[in-house]
Amino acid sequence: MRKVKTAVFPVGGLGTRFLPATKSMPKEMLPIANKPIIQYAYEEARDAGIEKFVFVTGRNKNAINNHFDHAYELESKLDEKNKSQELGQVMGWLPDAGQIAFVRQQKPLGLGHAIWCARNFIAKDEAFVVILADEMMMQSPNRKRNFLGEMIDLYQNKEDISSIVAVDEIDMKDTNKYGIIKVEGAEKIIDMVEKPKTEVAPSNLAITGRYILQPEIFEYLEKFEIGSGGEIQLTDAMKSMCKTHPFYCKKIDEVRFDCGNVLGYLEANIAFALANGAIESDVKKILKKYSN
Ligand code: UTP
Repeated sequence: MRKVKTAVFPVGGLGTRFLPATKSMPKEMLPIANKPIIQYAYEEARDAGIEKFVFVTGRNKNAINNHFDHAYELESKLDEKNKSQELGQVMGWLPDAGQIAFVRQQKPLGLGHAIWCARNFIAKDEAFVVILADEMMMQSPNRKRNFLGEMIDLYQNKEDISSIVAVDEIDMKDTNKYGIIKVEGAEKIIDMVEKPKTEVAPSNLAITGRYILQPEIFEYLEKFEIGSGGEIQLTDAMKSMCKTHPFYCKKIDEVRFDCGNVLGYLEANIAFALANGAIESDVKKILKKYSN
């Protein structure tokens, strides 16, 4: 069985679409309901069978490190007061010692550069997962294995050693906001373009924040080619690599939220609140109150 045991979470971006909230606080610590975005991403990876979690952080991101650590004063106070439910929320989900690592991306040179910064933490002969935490997925309650887990299953069942990219069908008018793939047949990727204009976009299939990559990607990333937005882009490295290494796509069949922008973030908050039976009817009342 081909192993996929490591996930990389690039969280070194500046989050400029969320200023001023992200001036001193990481975008990934913004809450959806009462849980920060990065915790959803971690739990998604853990539930898919990931055992090693590598966060690529930058300046002003220490709140993420602290969130994945014990908070002794808080824990002992809650323990004294027998607040077991709250205690579970603080520490019940924490990874075991040694399961997490934090790598510093000293300069935010782009997503591709952030992933390259994790290279020494990835086994040479093992595919790894990349999760963009701000691309959130809402797992439908009757689903046994989450989407990322199904991506891993797809990878393990392929005959060739490949990379897998999650894609979502988008409006053609929005192609300039995403990396777009060109496919042959149902799932083989033969080209990728970062943020193409609608007229030249090869499809409406957008790359959306979940990847299984072969470690050879680092050879392409370390060319440090500057791409769209003046940044070192992951899509550019994958585009070069897909000429000689098999890449497949898997279409997302869950609800997805782009929490990197304010509207997508608000939508995710509303959707998660409505999915919470304890507050659903009150949330509906609030929405009605402000809809008139
Ligand atoms: P985004 O394109 O969302 O950039 O990055 P950003 O900096 O987070 O946000 P805006 O566009 O300025 O509002 C996609 C992912 O890549 C990470 C981000 O943290 C996010 O998860 N990233 C981006 C890095 O880790 N380092 C970088 O240099 C750039």
